[in-house]
Amino acid sequence: WAAICIQDDLDVKVMMAGSTLRKVKSRSWKKQRHFRLLEDGMTIWYKSRWAGKGHSTFSVTEVEAVREGHQSEVLLSIAEEFSADLCFTLVFHGRQGNLDLVAESPEEAQAWIQGVRKLIHRAQTMDEKERLDQWVWDWFQKADKNKDGKMNFKEVRKLLKMMNVEMNEEHTALPFSFQMADKSQSGSLEIEQFVHFYKILTQRDEVWKVFQDYSGDGEKLMLEELENFLRVEQQEGEQSAQHAQELIDSYEPSESAKKEGAMSLDGFQMYLCSQQGSIFKPEHRDLYQDMSQPLSHYFISSSHNTYLLENQLRGQSSLEAYIQALKRGCRCVEVDCWDGSDGEPVVYHGHTLTSKIVFKDVISTIKEYAFKASDFPVILSLENHCSVEQQTIMAEHLSQILGDMLLTTLLDGQVPQQLPSPQELKGKILLKAKKIGGFEDCLDETMTDEVSDEEDIANGDAESPTVENPPAEICSSNDFAFYLPLLQISKSKLSRQLSDLVVYCKSVHFHGFDHARLHAKCYEMSSFSESKAKRLAKEAGTEFVQYNTRQLCRIYPSGLRTDSSNYNPQDMWNVGCQIVALNFQTAGLEMDLNDGLFRQNHCCGYVLKHDFMRDGNTQFTPEKPEERKDYRPLRLSIQVISGQQLPKVNQKEGSIVDPLVRVEIYGVPQDQAKEETSHINNNGFNPVWNETLNFIIHTPELALVRFVVEDYDKASRNDFIGQFTLPFTCIQAGYRHIHLLSKDGTAIPPASIFVNVSITELT
Ligand SMILES: *[C@@H]1O[C@H](CO)[C@@H](O)[C@H](O)[C@H]1NC(C)=O
Ligand SMILES: *[C@@H]1O[C@H](CO)[C@@H](O)[C@H](O)[C@H]1NC(C)=O
Repeated sequence: WAAICIQDDLDVKVMMAGSTLRKVKSRSWKKQRHFRLLEDGMTIWYKSRWAGKGHSTFSVTEVEAVREGHQSEVLLSIAEEFSADLCFTLVFHGRQGNLDLVAESPEEAQAWIQGVRKLIHRAQTMDEKERLDQWVWDWFQKADKNKDGKMNFKEVRKLLKMMNVEMNEEHTALPFSFQMADKSQSGSLEIEQFVHFYKILTQRDEVWKVFQDYSGDGEKLMLEELENFLRVEQQEGEQSAQHAQELIDSYEPSESAKKEGAMSLDGFQMYLCSQQGSIFKPEHRDLYQDMSQPLSHYFISSSHNTYLLENQLRGQSSLEAYIQALKRGCRCVEVDCWDGSDGEPVVYHGHTLTSKIVFKDVISTIKEYAFKASDFPVILSLENHCSVEQQTIMAEHLSQILGDMLLTTLLDGQVPQQLPSPQELKGKILLKAKKIGGFEDCLDETMTDEVSDEEDIANGDAESPTVENPPAEICSSNDFAFYLPLLQISKSKLSRQLSDLVVYCKSVHFHGFDHARLHAKCYEMSSFSESKAKRLAKEAGTEFVQYNTRQLCRIYPSGLRTDSSNYNPQDMWNVGCQIVALNFQTAGLEMDLNDGLFRQNHCCGYVLKHDFMRDGNTQFTPEKPEERKDYRPLRLSIQVISGQQLPKVNQKEGSIVDPLVRVEIYGVPQDQAKEETSHINNNGFNPVWNETLNFIIHTPELALVRFVVEDYDKASRNDFIGQFTLPFTCIQAGYRHIHLLSKDGTAIPPASIFVNVSITELT
């Protein structure tokens, strides 16, 4: 029993005995709370010493990491009062706020820091079976109010309801299963018996039927039978022989079946519910793509207004927002810089009530977190509104804080003909900003076009230190003398030191595709508002795709989105735009798509575009996918079979969900489609749909598939239950589970749906 073996750990013992910790919300809000770890080894409970009944709990599985010392803005603000060895921060998954804590002694702080880390590690390394046991155990603890470790039939019914299991009076399985589990016939179940009871209830007919189809004796799958199943249903081809043996070794719980080289129904269900049985191709979770192509050949996970935790009119600017984005694999963050009153540049959303953070702290945070989730390069998109004096200070901070991490010279000293690759730029931070001149000799001391990066007037961004100067094509004329006076002006507006730090990502104004084809350099890049990009994609799709094979481009949300809502990034990916910046702080469909695309390739933040989007002469346009040379449409058929332990939408007693599954396709315009099953009344526990949804996919390489489960509501909008989004190219055919995620993108085990996927050529 997982919960028991860890209780001998000394740190865990301290946690179970309980400690008084200060919970800190701000410089002035610091309150003592009594914290302890409950007997389940998973739940942390806390309350104030004086408050009557009120208490709070959270599970260790909700904690993503423990940071030691003054590693949050709140703890930094009390650094003089409490030394670093007393302080730590619990960071939660998703968008839930951190918990900043101060212990009474360094030893106590260490016990909690190390203890929580061990518990997180254990939770992460649990297999499916342990995870399910733990989940059932957690519910039992919550329901066992008098803590006698027992539950009678009535209490069990109530608990099942909390677990979203509705059993009406005529449901005969319930009393029967209860009796079967109550071996001592005491009229109540102890925890182990309850776990057993729960398993009887959750036996799955639909899995049993599939098993029967391939099992000769109806009891077990022999090696060849399992192999046959993998080849025919799971479409695994020649690997199935070796894979069958591996699956038995990894998932079969019965030693005797293992010895026989066979798999029992339990083992079979365990495999189907595992990562290997999931809809996502396991090999595409790894770093499987070629990382040695020019940067412009990749989609790059990118965030907009990275400093904001909430909306852009009054939201809080926070270092935490950078940490969260970088840890999600984001590889392009935005830094909006303004003159600070004491000579230190600050970061915030100009002319609004958003709070301010100091530029140098932002850079220190980026340095610390840039390469925790991925080794591949990070682009700092600088939105520079500063005076020359403070720009120079920015340049000094960038050089001093980032040191070798900051790329300040060409990789091979040659004028680049194409951008370097993510592989070559590993561990490097690139500055994207305006730059005086370029690398070609003739440009050495002249100006090229410098304009505000985000020129959308509605954006509310103030004019950047813009230089009124000749467009880039002037470079090809020899008439430099004429522009010398302008050069003086420009020097007073753009700091030379800052300009010198820009290498491969020089911001320039976009003068049309024709101009770009003739004159643009690979290291120049432009930014487009969502509406401009959408218009160009529609009017000149092929040219946009070609442009994006050579140069990077960045798309940003309309300035009218003051609520920090997002646009659909798919329209931009369809034409090969790389840096499609989204408000990471805003959950919803758009972020689901972003998370879905970048879930492949080890979540490294770079996804290689398909070959027809990397060829400079490509004729591809998303508007007419059938004109592509290798046009090969596919039929995607998804039989939605059943759902497992769907969470309740609201915890009100008596509310049981009426779930339905919708499959949504995002891709080229012709591929956009949605189909849904009917809803099942009052069953979030084990609904069966058995409905098949069909799609034709014209450009599979660009398609994303989103599975959404909703609670049907005939009077108002359906409520969201869970979703999972993945690239079409990462789908495994056959009988698969889809493990659902919350609105925030965090896992909600054991909620899943079971499907039978088939992909065939359209002939
Ligand atoms: C679902 O489909 C399977 C096989 O097609 C069938 O055996 C089963 O009875 C169906 N279940 C329901 C609830 O319709
Ligand atoms: C699952 O899909 C395969 C391939 O389309 C089909 O042969 C099989 O009958 C399906 N399973 C069920 C239960 O319908």
